[in-house]
Amino acid sequence: MHKNRFSRIGFILAAAGSAVGLGNIWKFPYITGDNGGGVFVLVYIATVFLIGMSIFIGEVLLGSSTNKNAVTTFETLAPKEKQYWKYTGFTFLTGLLILTFYCVVIAWIFNYIVMSVTALPTSFKESEEIFMSFLKEDIYTQFIYYTLTFIMVAYTISKGVKKGIEKLNNILMPSLIGILVILLIYSIQLDGFMKAVDFMFMPNFDKFHSSSIIVAVGHAFFTLSIGMVTILTYAASLDKNTNIVKASAIVVIMDTVIAIMAGLVIFSITFTAGQEPSKGPGLAFIILPAIFHEMGTIGIFLSLLFFIALAFAAITSAVSIIEPAVMYLVERRNVSRQKATYGVALFAYILGIFVLLSNTSAFSESLTFGSKNLFDWFDFISSAILLPFGGIMIAIFIGYVLDKEILRKAIVPYTGEVFYRIWLFSIKYLAPFAVFVLMLKESGIITLN
Ligand code: PHE
Repeated sequence: MHKNRFSRIGFILAAAGSAVGLGNIWKFPYITGDNGGGVFVLVYIATVFLIGMSIFIGEVLLGSSTNKNAVTTFETLAPKEKQYWKYTGFTFLTGLLILTFYCVVIAWIFNYIVMSVTALPTSFKESEEIFMSFLKEDIYTQFIYYTLTFIMVAYTISKGVKKGIEKLNNILMPSLIGILVILLIYSIQLDGFMKAVDFMFMPNFDKFHSSSIIVAVGHAFFTLSIGMVTILTYAASLDKNTNIVKASAIVVIMDTVIAIMAGLVIFSITFTAGQEPSKGPGLAFIILPAIFHEMGTIGIFLSLLFFIALAFAAITSAVSIIEPAVMYLVERRNVSRQKATYGVALFAYILGIFVLLSNTSAFSESLTFGSKNLFDWFDFISSAILLPFGGIMIAIFIGYVLDKEILRKAIVPYTGEVFYRIWLFSIKYLAPFAVFVLMLKESGIITLN
């Protein structure tokens, strides 16, 4: 076995580590709450499996067939007269934007880990005030945790695929799953559990709008880490002879199950406390901490477990966000892994300082452009535009440019002809169509209610 490559299980854990992140534990529950539950969850699951998984398999196929960085991968696989496809490899630049706001949120999580043991807010009102004053006034604490986050992420990446990424995921992913199982078992005996199950699985069309479908498509890309060659890059460090369809399916199922587990935990706790789940992004940082306080000693433990799980999930994703750029620099620009890591991390770190400051009252005015501050802009541009754009390019490349024999050889032996055809249909028609509609909506060309 190649010494700096993932083992098979190492790849699955690392890819799952990338996929499972803030998107699953923080974002999925609150967008489910905002979009009325049941129907949204169904649409989300359908999108993840019909569209998301096809592109995921596609990225794994591309990376594992060249074992090279993304730019080289597209260059190698594109026909001679279509070398411009290599630029698709540069979609890893999206990661630089994502990393900035991602690490700012990780800094908040660190603060809430500490708060769990020091002082949880005593009421919802106080909780909101605490969160807002932390966000807007406490530049110092945010900055310290933010810096710490970058040091941890860069250190892991600098150690390489085997000793850094694989090792980190081998520890954090099983711990994360263990914590979520404990939280779920606790939630099952809460009064609000059945209500949470109903909310997530009973179709309720009241709050569901056609725009909820768009939210589901956008989130499918974000949560599976597809559209910016992250999964492609991880797969480039995968040994040949892996059943890529099976490996992809395991990761996609893990990602979905963990999002649903997180939703059940959060909604059970929220309903038991008589609260509504449609509280937006503040669900995890404002509503939950106040409920945890009400619960007394057990609440402190739950709070600690919850925010540690969130931190573990987010750190393994953050690591995966910079690897594509680092691998490119190492292979194409002859830079050492250390230098590449610290270069990329430093760039994102500095950019992210502006993102962090854009939430603070001292700087928000100068860092707000139009309707959004820099934090919201970076989130919006990357999740709603750049990732879907990257995804569509990858789907078109696989569906229309790549030699069909390569595809057939990589898929059919593992799955048979029928699955291959369904997969190809999704890559050629379903995925590009869904993303196209999404982009029309985001650009304001069409409006949905
Ligand atoms: N999938 C991660 C999440 O759900 C985010 C992510 C996006 C990671 C793109 C890598 C690349 O939080």
